[in-house]
Order: sequence, then C-alpha cells, then structure tokens
Amino acid sequence: MKSSFLEAALKRSEKFQLGTKYRFTPPAGLKDLIIQYLDKKKGPPHELAVDLGCGTGQNTRLLAPHFKEVVGMDISESQLEEARAVPGFSNITYKTGRAEKLPFPDDSVDLLTAASAAHWFDVPMFLAEANRVLKPGGCMALLGFADNYPKFTYKDCGDKLSSIYQEVKEVLKPYTERPVFESENKLEGLFQAIPFPDKERIEDFPLKWTISVEDLMGFISSWSMFQTYRAKDPTGAEHLLVNTEKRFLQEMGVASPKAEVVRNWEYFCVLASKPL
Ligand SMILES: C[S@@+](CC[C@H](N)C(=O)[O-])C[C@H]1O[C@@H](n2cnc3c(N)ncnc32)[C@H](O)[C@@H]1O
Repeated sequence: MKSSFLEAALKRSEKFQLGTKYRFTPPAGLKDLIIQYLDKKKGPPHELAVDLGCGTGQNTRLLAPHFKEVVGMDISESQLEEARAVPGFSNITYKTGRAEKLPFPDDSVDLLTAASAAHWFDVPMFLAEANRVLKPGGCMALLGFADNYPKFTYKDCGDKLSSIYQEVKEVLKPYTERPVFESENKLEGLFQAIPFPDKERIEDFPLKWTISVEDLMGFISSWSMFQTYRAKDPTGAEHLLVNTEKRFLQEMGVASPKAEVVRNWEYFCVLASKPL
C-alpha cells in the first residue's frame, strides 16, 4: 500500500512531467563551486554522488565527470526513462525512489544534490536520511532558481516585459503551493532546519537565458500553479497565455513569437557538510 505522502508526491509528479521540455541545466560555474566546496570539506576520493529529484537528468549528467559513480533518483519512472535514454554516461544509474528513504548504507555518499527539487521533499525525513547516508565531511548541495524579481532585456522595453511577467505570477498566486514559495525563498526554511553547524547559502549566482516568446509561454504553462489553474479554469488559463504572448509581442514591436528575449536568472545553492 502506498503512503498518503507518496501518493501526493506521485500526483504532483504528473504535473512535473508536463514541464520536461523546459528544464534547465544548472550553470556549470555553480557546479564547479559545489565540487570545490566538497573538496574543501571532505576532499578526495569522489566516489558516489546522488542527485535527488533528478527528473530527466540535467544536473545528474553535470556531475558525471567528477565522480566514480553517480545515481539519479526520482519518484517519477517516466522522467527516469527519459534520463536513461541520453547516451554516453556509463557511470550514471537511475533509480526510482524518494529523497526521504534512500537505498544507501550509512556513511556511503560523498555528495547529495537536488536541483529545483528539494522544496518538494519532506524536510525532517530528508534531513534524517541525508545525515545517515553522507560520509563524514560529505556534503549536500540543494540548488534552484528563484523567480521573484524577473529581469528581461529587449531593446528599451525590458522593464515592461518584466512587469507583464510579474502580473502573470500574481494571477497564479492563489494556485501556488507552499513548496513553490519555499523555493522562491531560496529554501530558507530547509536551510534553517539543517542540523550541521557547517552550512552556507549562495544566494545569487547569475545566469543569462535567451528564450523565444513562444518558449517562455511554454515555460509558464509548465509551472505547477499554471496546471492547477488550468485544471480549474481551462478557458481562463488559455486566455492568460494567449494574452500574455500578445502583450509581449506588442511591447517588443514584433509579430513572430519566435522573437527572443534575454532573461537574467539568479540561482541559489544551499551547501552543508556533515561533521567529520
Ligand atoms: C522541477 S523537477 C526538477 C528536475 C531536475 N532536477 C531538473 O533540474 O530539471 C522536480 C523533480 O523532483 C521530483 N520529486 C518530487 N518530490 C520528490 C521526492 N520526494 N523524492 C524524489 N523526487 C521527487 C519530481 O518527480 C520532479 O522530477
């Protein structure tokens, strides 16, 4: 029998699947900072990294050159299928499983990561498991991007585009689940709850992202809150997307939704090391 927690997580994972086209690979520079942190706190060898909530494996693959073995774990088998279909990473294994119940022995993992996923975890259960499986000196790195202050650039209308985007987020606020706010808050609650004294948070690792207006609408439609809204009001949701695209194109003075804008993101990363 499935626990109610697992059932709720699996139900959410139906929503996550819709978003796979709009998944981002975290910045390589941030990954380098994570590896440097691990080297400072634990040092070599780098035997095992586990990427939790790995989805289709973007972050998992970034880790592959740095470890003897990398395991990507997710509650969604269909996302893991997509991850497994990417060739060329012989040291990666993908497993179905939950961040709250890890199939690893005590003191066996060098690095635990989660990219845009830790806000969905049950924090006390996950932290207990992290404490159990990490080697002494082993580290966790929980990264993601906050979407609080969007900054678009396009000729002289970047500010207008940013405020249109912000309006969309306001419309969707009533449909936004608490974990999404925790992510926007750069995992503040989870950070405070980490029992290791050695912890820090990178708050604003910059990334520039060029995206077409069409794909930006696709990205919005992949948000869990958009899908909740669409389930309740399909016409309203459709109208929101169509209207937002139209307003973007009008401000930009272009006709084609393939026109591209630049978006500045800020990644964050919670880092912590288990005491030696
Ligand atoms: C927004 S996606 C991020 C996927 C990927 N890490 C990325 O950066 O694109 C969140 C992922 O977390 C997974 N997930 C949610 N709750 C989980 C849990 N408790 N344990 C493991 N995976 C979970 C979902 O199935 C989904 O694939």
